[in-house]
Amino acid sequence: MKKIFSFLCLFMVVTAMMSCSSAKEEKGTSETGNAALDNIFERKSVRTYLNKGVEKEKIDLMLRAGMAAPSGKDVRPWEFVVVTDRARLDSMAAALPYAKMLTQARNAIVVCGDSARSSYWYLDCSAATQNILLAAESLGLGAVWTAAYPYEDRMQVVRKYTGLPENILPLCVIPFGYPATKENPKQKFDEKKIHYNQY
Ligand SMILES: Cc1cc2nc3c(=O)[nH]c(=O)nc-3n(C[C@H](O)[C@H](O)[C@H](O)COP(=O)(O)O)c2cc1C
Repeated sequence: MKKIFSFLCLFMVVTAMMSCSSAKEEKGTSETGNAALDNIFERKSVRTYLNKGVEKEKIDLMLRAGMAAPSGKDVRPWEFVVVTDRARLDSMAAALPYAKMLTQARNAIVVCGDSARSSYWYLDCSAATQNILLAAESLGLGAVWTAAYPYEDRMQVVRKYTGLPENILPLCVIPFGYPATKENPKQKFDEKKIHYNQY
């Protein structure tokens, strides 16, 4: 009787493990056992948000992550504008063709760079942006990179609603919040893109 019970327990555990791994396969993800890598593989652009505020601690962590990025000659030419004002978010949404999701977001981070301090400003700010997106993912938030640079018209819009001085250029606007929909990361790995020693 005891043996049958043990067998049944083992059977249930194995069945549960199998259904869990097939759920992962459906999602198209496979956990690596490495939290940082899992977070990289889980990140995706999220464009729909709940009408729910994001805690200040989480916003601070996203900004800290941004500033942890590498930068050429360690100049750190970035500046971050956190936009929480409804009117500014809506005005930017109305004028930016590919950032309409700002109407739903309660917050956005504008990642900017000082072009006078570094000719690498947009590269350094891109690294900072990716760190912010990864931090958002790891905190259970959804976020998306929406382009300002290099489009002069979009940069003007962001400049207008965030009061940027002349030398500070906006790279992108990152609307973020608690996701309203469940998105799956795209599967992008492609062996054909890898070249050893020669193309
Ligand atoms: C330089 C850059 C500019 C982007 N601009 C926009 C944008 O203006 N609006 C938008 O909805 N998504 C924008 N995206 C997000 C991309 O559409 C998205 O990263 C891509 O479709 C891949 O999907 P994933 O982020 O879910 O992996 C941009 C991404 C990058 C890197």
